[in-house]
Amino acid sequence: MRVKNLPWIPFAFFAIVIGLYPLTYYLLNTDHFGLFHQKPIQLVRNFYWHTAFYIHITFGGIALLTGWTQFSQRLRYKYINAHRFVGKIYVIAVMLSSVAALFIAVFAIGGIITTTGFGVLAILWFFTISKAYTSILKGNIIQHENWMVRNYALTFSAVTLRIWMPAFQLIAHWDFITAYHIVSWLCWVPNLIIAEIMMGRNKNVPLKISFLKSRQSSLKNNCDF
Ligand code: HEM
Repeated sequence: MRVKNLPWIPFAFFAIVIGLYPLTYYLLNTDHFGLFHQKPIQLVRNFYWHTAFYIHITFGGIALLTGWTQFSQRLRYKYINAHRFVGKIYVIAVMLSSVAALFIAVFAIGGIITTTGFGVLAILWFFTISKAYTSILKGNIIQHENWMVRNYALTFSAVTLRIWMPAFQLIAHWDFITAYHIVSWLCWVPNLIIAEIMMGRNKNVPLKISFLKSRQSSLKNNCDF
């Protein structure tokens, strides 16, 4: 993915702001903040749900904060070790957060529609990061890039959800549950479609073939991503 293809400032801005949002749950440590006040108190205080929720929001925040920095081609070429280090943090964060998300999706507000919306998202989030990681282990840089684009498009659903929800509630005056049902799908399906379109366009961009070939063979000889 090339730097000039992305609107970097809003992309980074939203990733940072929403990536830091989970901190508010730590700072305002009450049973009534945010999502908690809409949930039965027994669930909020349930050890397994509570632990999964904090794993999800903590590592989801880390994924959102670290992921966007990996898309600059120039930085990747220049600081490959930093790219690998941050990449490993990102992979671990997405894996932990997605497994926890699948668990808390079962108890999502709005029942079966939101449970399946967030559940499918959690499964795809895990699947795409696994594909991205295994492709780089095999030294396939282009596949790795493509799976990472898909994966971060899904990570970015945390941002798009928080844009769609107020838009539907404040502008369209929809009630919370109706908006939540729709947004549990709308927060990620268009992101994936946009990612596919961007990758389709990128196929026509001349790649630094010689660089990629040499990186590819060096990775095959030294698979230490
Ligand atoms: C991309 C895959 C993701 C999935 C499948 C997912 C799933 C969920 C689910 C099921 C809930 C609980 C909803 C409910 O009980 O009604 C939730 C809440 C939450 N998630 Fe995620 N999430 C994802 C990404 C992220 C990311 C990247 C962040 C990082 C900021 C994040 C932060 C939160 C927060 C803070 C909440 C609490 C609700 C709120 O205060 O807005 N999630 N998520």
